[in-house]
Amino acid sequence: MDTIPHTSRPGYFGEFGGRFVPETLMPPLLEVEEALTSILPSEAFRNELQELLAEYCGRPTPITLCKNLSAELGFELFLKREDLLHTGAHKINNALGQALLARMMGKSHVIAETGAGQHGVATATAAAKFGMRCTVFMGAKDVERQAPNVQRMKLLGAQVVAVQSGSCTLKDAINEALRYWISHQADTMYVFGTAAGPHPFPTLVRELQKVIGTEAREQMLTRVGTLPDYVVACVGGGSNAIGMLHPFIHDKQVRLVGVEAGGTGEPGCENSAAINLGTPGVLHGARMNLLQTPDGQICESSSISAGLDYPGVGPEHVHLHHTGRVLYSIAYDHEALDAFRRLSRAEGIIPALESSHALAWVLREANSIKPDSRVLVNLSGRGDKDLAHALHYIDLD
Ligand SMILES: Cc1ncc(COP(=O)(O)O)c(C=O)c1O
Repeated sequence: MDTIPHTSRPGYFGEFGGRFVPETLMPPLLEVEEALTSILPSEAFRNELQELLAEYCGRPTPITLCKNLSAELGFELFLKREDLLHTGAHKINNALGQALLARMMGKSHVIAETGAGQHGVATATAAAKFGMRCTVFMGAKDVERQAPNVQRMKLLGAQVVAVQSGSCTLKDAINEALRYWISHQADTMYVFGTAAGPHPFPTLVRELQKVIGTEAREQMLTRVGTLPDYVVACVGGGSNAIGMLHPFIHDKQVRLVGVEAGGTGEPGCENSAAINLGTPGVLHGARMNLLQTPDGQICESSSISAGLDYPGVGPEHVHLHHTGRVLYSIAYDHEALDAFRRLSRAEGIIPALESSHALAWVLREANSIKPDSRVLVNLSGRGDKDLAHALHYIDLD
């Protein structure tokens, strides 16, 4: 079994990835690729990003042992606390890194897509910090259902464009942002929100999110004295998961698990589990697994958590699934809601509904996890943003 992700061609992870874009998008993508190899590894970039992550965002985030849940489950459950970061989720690691890259590339304007609003808020935050202009593309349907995040972005100084095409959701927002970029290349950088899209975005986003797993690995070794037996993360487009799992890939004794959103569990396209239930195809410039009809039309995805609601998944994850190094499983809406409530009650930590999918896998598989194991879950974000939505389904009494 091939356990190491390899990139035989730049931008490819096995058979997945690539850069399937119109000719007019090649120049800005090549410019970002050049910045990835020249600016990203430079000492100036590394030092400035590290300082910002520490002093502006609150890194390193701690790992927390969930003592109460661990006692119930019979093994040790640790959380990597990305929920404690500035703006409340891991998205800021990537948005701040890409905005800094844009500034060093001489750009004055950042654009971004957003679904639930988390990446839009993170990009608007980074733009405010650097004094850059920011435009966020958001499906008109999402603008309506995520009103508080739209207000946050506007307060931070961003312009929010409601995208009226297609299904008026995230995939249409990405299409519109790519279209805008074609005609505004000189001053604009597209800050892509997840580990998907055309090369070099899957690699760039992974490099900026790897801080999660690198820190967590070090913290387990120094604090607990050993590596975890399992590392678990939720998978939407795949950025928090690749950031968490990648630094553990060569630790063959560590089981790596990615958890996709299965929606309600009813048959049809109404889920967001592109690895488990999708088929290969091209979306947003990359070959990956997609939820699509037999004719190749993209299905509308669905999940209780807006951040996992994407009909594709980052190409590196599809490759890691094929090599067998990472197990990709599914958690359903009701399991995520149960985990949301259980962590809140047992530990006093309200998780994002996205992260609740990772926890849900652990709770469901608890009987098959050996006693005294150590399980590390990436708590990718905090759940304050989800409260109103979750309370439609949860009875608090
Ligand atoms: C808290 C949180 N976790 C996870 C995700 C899923 O994105 P990704 O798969 O890129 O980590 C999101 C997306 O908005 C999110 O807000």
